[in-house]
Amino acid sequence: MAVLSIALLLCLVFVAPWAICAARVHRRFTIRTQNVARVCNTQTIVTVNGRYPGPTLRVHEGDNLVIDVMNKGPYNITLHWHGVKQIRSAWADGPGYITQCPITPGTKYTYNFTITGQEGTMWWHAHMTYLRATVNGALIILPRHGKTYPFPKPHAEFPIILGEWWNANVENVLADAIRRGGVPNDSDAYTINSQPGDFFPCSANDTTRFMVERGKTYLLRIISCAMIHASFFKIAQHKMTVVAVDALYTKPYETDVLVIQPGNTMDVLITAGQESGRYYIGTRVYNSQPQGFEFLNTTTTAILEYHDSTNTSAPVLPDFPAFNDTPTAFKFSTELRSLNASVPQTVDEEMFITEGLALASCPNNSCAVINGGRPLGSMNNISFVLPEISILQAYYYGIDGVYTTDFPDNPPLVFNYTGAVPMGLWQPDFGTRVKVLKFNSSVQIVLQNTGILTIQNHPIHLHGHDFYVVGQGFGNYNSQTDPANFNLVDPQLLNTVGVPTGGWAVIRFIANNPGVWLMHCHFESHSELGFETVFITENGPGNSESLPPPPRDLPKC
Ligand code: C2O
Repeated sequence: MAVLSIALLLCLVFVAPWAICAARVHRRFTIRTQNVARVCNTQTIVTVNGRYPGPTLRVHEGDNLVIDVMNKGPYNITLHWHGVKQIRSAWADGPGYITQCPITPGTKYTYNFTITGQEGTMWWHAHMTYLRATVNGALIILPRHGKTYPFPKPHAEFPIILGEWWNANVENVLADAIRRGGVPNDSDAYTINSQPGDFFPCSANDTTRFMVERGKTYLLRIISCAMIHASFFKIAQHKMTVVAVDALYTKPYETDVLVIQPGNTMDVLITAGQESGRYYIGTRVYNSQPQGFEFLNTTTTAILEYHDSTNTSAPVLPDFPAFNDTPTAFKFSTELRSLNASVPQTVDEEMFITEGLALASCPNNSCAVINGGRPLGSMNNISFVLPEISILQAYYYGIDGVYTTDFPDNPPLVFNYTGAVPMGLWQPDFGTRVKVLKFNSSVQIVLQNTGILTIQNHPIHLHGHDFYVVGQGFGNYNSQTDPANFNLVDPQLLNTVGVPTGGWAVIRFIANNPGVWLMHCHFESHSELGFETVFITENGPGNSESLPPPPRDLPKC
């Protein structure tokens, strides 16, 4: 007790009272291109501080982060701090044309925000075009000084970023797809900390290795930066205990397989309790589409190696679920439980959002790639169109003509969403239509996947808020019978939910963070194709519940 109060006293003496024990963390990110060799190919990629993955930021809850971003690369860029709620700092959230205009080549912007009441594994990534494939890194938020994890302290921690590599410039991959009117080509490999692993001959010498001591427990901080697929993740002969997802603590959940959606982070404990040796950590696709859709079916590996291992034979490989093992994915996501939940029990705003792909017709077959059209993404049948100045700026300054506030609460038509949808319903409308939320309103959204083009699992990410996933199921959501099965006691809190393939998920949150918040599919090509929408949360009554003015260096369009 005595020690504690002395520590607290020191903090109070040395920093301003509003930031008891918090520190100012100042970092500089320089964005530039460089040549990097992976998967038998040298490629020019965009990096941060010359690193791929980019630098890991390790900070404490309560810290104020000041990150100067200098764009020395050739493309417009923005950075997003995935999972950070940005309480009263929406100007630092980062999605291009939503909360800011891009940082143009040769210019800089300082992201300034405070981490309040959040701890665990988050990450940062580019939030424009396809740049996040190479511009990404871990953001680790440790408990405030003097506080501990709600689980025994691990011996060591390893950040693990699951990514994808193209033997091509990713900006060209996206531009080609837009020109063709299609979806971007699949990547050439999946990666663990930027390495595809032993099954890719040119990379085998550099396979990512994690050295462990027998009998010790380790915390894996796993981040999925995958661009267009969910992943199964296993470690040969080692069980894992999930203790947090999306920087939100879970009741400890023991499993031998993780199912990770793009955008999700998972904190997982493992004990090096096997015979000394080398074990593969492996990841490959969870493919939720029915047969006939192509995907990259390779396995990516890293190695868990015991310090005293003398064994030089090939590591043991884990057995994976089948690529299309939806029951395993559903079991994993529905069995997770929040450690401390406080679920909104009543609802002020109810929305039902159909979401999935759509197909735009092409005059004279000019862009026909599938069934005479080009694929798009939509929510409530609206394919979102990015404006030319940011929505947050337009909102804050009252600039007309940038967006409309008529994003609908329901789809324009009731149909059999997950069945064989008639072609006549595949065509979306276009618009920059947003939904306005009253400060402190309790919001429930049914996210209903559609079967347009294909049924598929979609990872839906909401900026500025975490949400409870109170229910999930297959087929069409039934508002009469499904609420009876909601978990309003201890459902998992997340910022990205994998809506089950051919199914639905129901989320609840309190809109208590004034600002402009994107919600989108974290499959990058889908959001690029308009699979997104925007919420504007109004100011609350007090100054401390209102969005402050923008920083002076906010980029202009
Ligand atoms: Cu991880 Cu809108 O992003």
